[in-house]
Amino acid sequence: MRLRWLKALLWALCLYPLALLAWRTWHGQLGPNPVETLEHATGLRALQLLLATLAMTPLRSLSGRPEPLQLRRTLGLFAYFYMCLHFAAYLVFDLSLSLPKLGEDLVKRTYITLGFGCWLFLLPLAVTSTDGWQRRLKRRWKTLHRLIYPAALLASLHFVWLVKKDETEPLSYLAVLLALLALRLPWRRWLRGILSPQTTQT
Ligand code: HEM
Repeated sequence: MRLRWLKALLWALCLYPLALLAWRTWHGQLGPNPVETLEHATGLRALQLLLATLAMTPLRSLSGRPEPLQLRRTLGLFAYFYMCLHFAAYLVFDLSLSLPKLGEDLVKRTYITLGFGCWLFLLPLAVTSTDGWQRRLKRRWKTLHRLIYPAALLASLHFVWLVKKDETEPLSYLAVLLALLALRLPWRRWLRGILSPQTTQT
């Protein structure tokens, strides 16, 4: 029951930015450069949700509660949903759906290559996110879903690469990602190894 409410709250929180964006679009309130506003809003939300997804495992370890892991898939799928909106805005408004132009950008603009790499890495994860695929793939499912780490790195680098002047914001996102990844390292085992007298005896 509690989980159902938490999931409903998460859906509301994840859909709220989209509703706001739709409302602003409808009322012509996207500013002087509406396409840029759409791309920035969706790209930023995708990155935030991706980092939030990665924060769930450390949160589970720190809190000892099961809810973070139970909400992780919903967060990850919303991250991918916003990435698809972001990619679609670029394809439709910047490229007028031209695949040759996409190919050109992928070759010429490093930040596009990095962003596309992230989107591509996460595609099989989104497809295989169901319980059925998890059962079918067994242990390979976990291995496949480790692609989220390089994908998140590509997403952060995409942001760092595209910003020309003040890089504080993209570098902050990269720092959060690196901190989240560092939390996953087996620090406790290493510390025990260092402090344990057995290791010093040999
Ligand atoms: C699918 C391939 C992708 C393409 C073609 C793409 C394209 C773009 C473009 C054209 C911009 C605006 C650049 C500018 O203002 O000069 C942008 C910004 C951005 N993108 Fe992407 N992107 C992609 C994937 C991603 C992914 C996967 C993420 C995150 C998970 C992401 C996050 C961002 C962020 C955070 C910004 C900057 C937002 C801001 O300045 O506030 N993008 N992207």
